[in-house]
Amino acid sequence: MDQATFIKKYATNRANTNSLKWDALDQRYGNPDLIAMWVADMEFKVPEQVTQALTDRVAHGIYGYSYTPDSYYQAFINWEQRRHGLTVQKDWIRFGSGVVNSLYALVNTYTQPGDGVLILTPVYYPFFNAVQDNHRQLVTSELVNDHGHYTIDFADVEAKIKANEVRLFIQCSPHNPVGRIWTAAEETRLLALCEQYHVLVISDEIHQDIEIDPQNHPFISALTVADGRFTDRVIVVNAPSKTFNLACLLNSHVIIPNQVLREKYDAAINRLSQTEVNVLGQTAGQAAYESGAAWLDQILAIVRDNYHYLKTQLAQHAPQIVIADLQGTYLTWLDLRAYVKPEFTRDFIQDKCGLAVDFGEWFSSNDQGFVRLNLATDPKYVHQAVEHVVQAIEQLTTHA
Ligand SMILES: Cc1ncc(COP(=O)(O)O)c(C=O)c1O
Repeated sequence: MDQATFIKKYATNRANTNSLKWDALDQRYGNPDLIAMWVADMEFKVPEQVTQALTDRVAHGIYGYSYTPDSYYQAFINWEQRRHGLTVQKDWIRFGSGVVNSLYALVNTYTQPGDGVLILTPVYYPFFNAVQDNHRQLVTSELVNDHGHYTIDFADVEAKIKANEVRLFIQCSPHNPVGRIWTAAEETRLLALCEQYHVLVISDEIHQDIEIDPQNHPFISALTVADGRFTDRVIVVNAPSKTFNLACLLNSHVIIPNQVLREKYDAAINRLSQTEVNVLGQTAGQAAYESGAAWLDQILAIVRDNYHYLKTQLAQHAPQIVIADLQGTYLTWLDLRAYVKPEFTRDFIQDKCGLAVDFGEWFSSNDQGFVRLNLATDPKYVHQAVEHVVQAIEQLTTHA
C-alpha cells in the first residue's frame, strides 16, 4: 500500500475519545487547542487484523476468567525470533498490566529500601518515580551529549556504582528520550560492569521494534548481548503496546530467564496480587504479532519520513536547533537553547508554537530547554509543528 493510501486508511482524529494526549490538553497544558505531540502513542488505528480479532472476540460477548493460550506465547516467541533473532522460552514469560507497573514490582522484588538504583539520564520519567516512590536511593549517571549524539560515560557509571553500592540498574533500550539504540559494544561494556559489581539489570525494551535505520543501528536485546553471556542477571520488560498502539489494553511482559530470580519474582507477586490476564489485550497482542509486521513497516516508514522532514526543514530554517540522532523510538529530542532561554521554553513551545510536548526537565533536572516530540503521527501535524516553530523563531530573531 502506498503511504498516502495507508495514511488515509489508518490516520484518525482522536478528539472526544478520552484520549489522554488530545482530550486532556486543557487539563494538562491549560489550552485545548494545542497540537498534541506528547505521550508516546500514535494517531494510527491498529492493524486491521487486530481490529478484526477484537471485533470477533467482542461479538462473543462474554469476558469471563481467561488464561493465556499457547497460541499467544507462540505468536510472541516467533515475533522475537523473526524480528530480533531473540530466543525466548515460554517459562521465562510473566505478564503485567503495563511496563511501568512491572518496574515498580521489580524494584520492590529485588531491592530493599535505601538500596542504590542506577539510571542513565535524561530518561523516561517513571524510572525516577519507580525508584523514589519506593524509597530506594536514586543514582543517576548523565549521558554525554555531543551535539545531539548521546553516549554513556562509563567511568562515571563505574564510579557511581562503587560509591553508592548500586544493586539494580534500570536501562532504557532503545533509550527514550534521546533516541539511541545501544550498540553491542556499549551494551557489552555496560553489562560487564554490572556483572563485575553484582548489579542486577532490568532492561526496558518496550521500544524494541521501533528501529529507524536497522541496517546501521539494529536493536540488540540485553538477552542476546555477547551471545547471552549476561542473560542470568537480566530481566527484560516489553510489550506489544508501543509497537502496535495498544497501550490501554494493559498487556505487557516480564521476561526472567534466571530460575532463581523468577522464583523470587513469583513469590513477591503472589504476596501482592492475584490478577488474571487481560483477555482483550492478549487477543489484540496475538493478532498483532501474527499479522502486524507489514503495518508496522508502514508506520516505521512514516516515522522515518517525519523525522527526515523535521530534520531537513529545521536545518534550513532554524539551523541552531540540535536534533538528537534518532536510531530507535518514534520520539525526537530537540535542544532549543540556542534560540530560547531554558526558562522560556514552555512559553515558546506552548504559547508561540501551539504545541503540547514533553519538556526536557521531566526527563532530567538538567535538561530544561529540551523538548520531546512524538513523530508516530499524521505527517500533517509534523508539517504544522515545523511551520509554527520556524515562524516563532523568525519572530524571535527579527525582534531581537
Ligand atoms: C521506556 C518506556 N517504558 C515504559 C513505557 C510505558 O509503558 P506502559 O504503558 O506499558 O506502562 C513507556 C511509554 O512511553 C516508555 O517510553
